[in-house]
Order: sequence, then C-alpha cells, then structure tokens
Amino acid sequence: MSASCAGVRKVDTTGLALVCDHLDMTVWDAGDGRIIRAGDRTRSLEDARVVFDAYDTAHRATGITPRPYEVVQVGDRFGVVVEWVCGFSLGAHPKFGSYTASEAGEALGEIAQLMHRAHARKGCDMRAVFITMEQRIAPHVPDDQAQCLGELIRGIPVRDTLLHGDIHPGNVIVNRSGLRLIDMDTVGFGHPVFELACMNAFIFRGVPVKIEEFDMTPEEGVAAARVLWEAALRRYFSGWDEDEISTASVCIEILARLTRCFGGPKYLEAGDRFVDHWMQQNIGGFRALLREALPQVDRLDF
Ligand SMILES: Nc1ncnc2c1ncn2[C@@H]1O[C@H](COP(=O)(O)OP(=O)(O)O)[C@@H](O)[C@H]1O
Ligand SMILES: [Mg+2]
Repeated sequence: MSASCAGVRKVDTTGLALVCDHLDMTVWDAGDGRIIRAGDRTRSLEDARVVFDAYDTAHRATGITPRPYEVVQVGDRFGVVVEWVCGFSLGAHPKFGSYTASEAGEALGEIAQLMHRAHARKGCDMRAVFITMEQRIAPHVPDDQAQCLGELIRGIPVRDTLLHGDIHPGNVIVNRSGLRLIDMDTVGFGHPVFELACMNAFIFRGVPVKIEEFDMTPEEGVAAARVLWEAALRRYFSGWDEDEISTASVCIEILARLTRCFGGPKYLEAGDRFVDHWMQQNIGGFRALLREALPQVDRLDF
C-alpha cells in the first residue's frame, strides 16, 4: 500500500452479503445500515475520494441521497461506505414494484425536481461535457447543422443547479418516507436541461436491456419507455403551458440523441470501447432529428 493510503481503513468483505455484483461495480451489505461500494470508477484512492465528495455534496444539499461515511480500501481497489437506503428500486421489476410505468415516470420527474432545488459548483460541469460531445460529433454532421447545434448548446444559460447525471428507475428507491436517489458517481452541476437529456437517453437507450431482462416484446418496451418519459416530463414541468413544454422537449430530445451517440456522459471521459458502436448505432437518427428539429428551437429559457 502506498504512503498516500495512510489513514484509509482496509475492509475485508469475506462473508459479507453481496447486494450487487456486475461488470464494473460490487456492492456489499456492511451489516450496520451501511453498504460498501467499490468499482472500476474507484480503482484509485483519488477516484474514491471524488466519489465520496459527490455523495457528500448531494447529501448535504438535498437530504434525499445516501449519507457517505468513509473511503475504504477493498482488496486492490478503493470504495466508499455509504448509508444503506432500504426500500424497493423502481428499476427492479418490469412493473416498477407496485408502480405503473406512468407512476414510475412521475416519481422520476419528482426526484429530478427535488434534486434541482439544490445548487453546487463541484463535480462534473455538464455544460462542458455537452460542448465536448458537440465538438466530437461536428465532423459527422453537415456543417450548417453542426453550427446550429453549437449555437444551441453554447446558448444554454450557465447554471449551478445540482445535477445527478444518471437519474433512471434503477437509481430511485421508494420507501415509507418517500423517494430517495442513489448512485452519485456522476453528480455535477449545470442547466437542468442536461439532466433531462441524460434521463431521456437512458430511458430510451435502456429499452433493449429491459426487454431482455423483463421478457417484453420490443413494442411493449418502447411503449413503456414512452409512458415513463411523458409522465416524468409532465411531473417535472407541472404548471407550465403546453407550448413551453414542447419547446423544452425538442431541446431535450436533441441533447438526448447527442448523448446516445456516446452512450452517456460518463463513458465520454473514459474513452469507452463501446463509444464507436453507439456512434454507429445512433448517428443516422441524430442527423435526421437535427434536420427536422433544429429549426424549431431558438432559445431555451427555464
Ligand atoms: N445506498 C444504497 N442503498 C441501497 N442499495 C444500494 C445503495 N447503493 C447501491 N445500492 C444497490 O447496488 C446497486 C448498484 O449500485 P449503484 O450505486 O446504483 O451503482 P451502478 O449503477 O453505477 O453500478 C443499486 O442498483 C442498488 O441495488
Ligand atoms: Mg445505479
């Protein structure tokens, strides 16, 4: 262990119950109302501290996200110990627990609203992430569209709204005291439209995965995603008039399609090996959308 690890407790996870173990993340039940979470994004002590800070920022600002306790060493990796949030995850079942797709969508809209009451200047600057995506996509689209897209993104007002960056049913936990949001790896700040774009991208990109997991036909999967998304948007923008909602949703759709060309903001930094695949899969639809939708948005003011 290097000198920089001094003061970091080593934990032995032998015998602890596994809560989740997938490709790049392992979560153990630490048994005392806490979980230990270690993964590819916390290989180094520095990475784990960044994740800890993200949990800390979100918890202090919102109270709806798990409280972090400490950074620990787990084998050759590092991890964070955080509050165990009991309840059921909206992503754990095709019917979102006892929720319908529409109720699950409302929950997503509500949790995004709760999150966005808070402000921060730490973590990922989502505006910068979208500008990077726009620059990387520019060679793949006609010049005039690239220019309009650039103007659209740069024209989005600078904000310090706290953004989660990965709001989807699997990260929302429902219990008696209400809704909680977990998984703080991508916490950052910026204009809320970036969050909504990431939500949309996840909901529609996640469809094929859900179909396999939940034995839905593709048509049922897409229909459920549509219901979920529409309900989330209506809940988020409750009180707005229809015209305002439709201008905002065109902008969200463009940014979401852009996001899908890269798989999502968190893969952009990592230079993920799937990025080429996502680009190939999504660039055609993105070009078509730009042709049709760019003329409809001139200004975004929420
Ligand atoms: N604080 C928590 N309380 C309860 N369960 C959790 C908590 N954090 C993670 N989990 C469980 O572990 C799974 C993976 O953790 P998560 O933080 O969402 O990481 P990722 O989705 O990036 O792999 C979650 O879907 C959830 O089932
Ligand atoms: Mg998650």
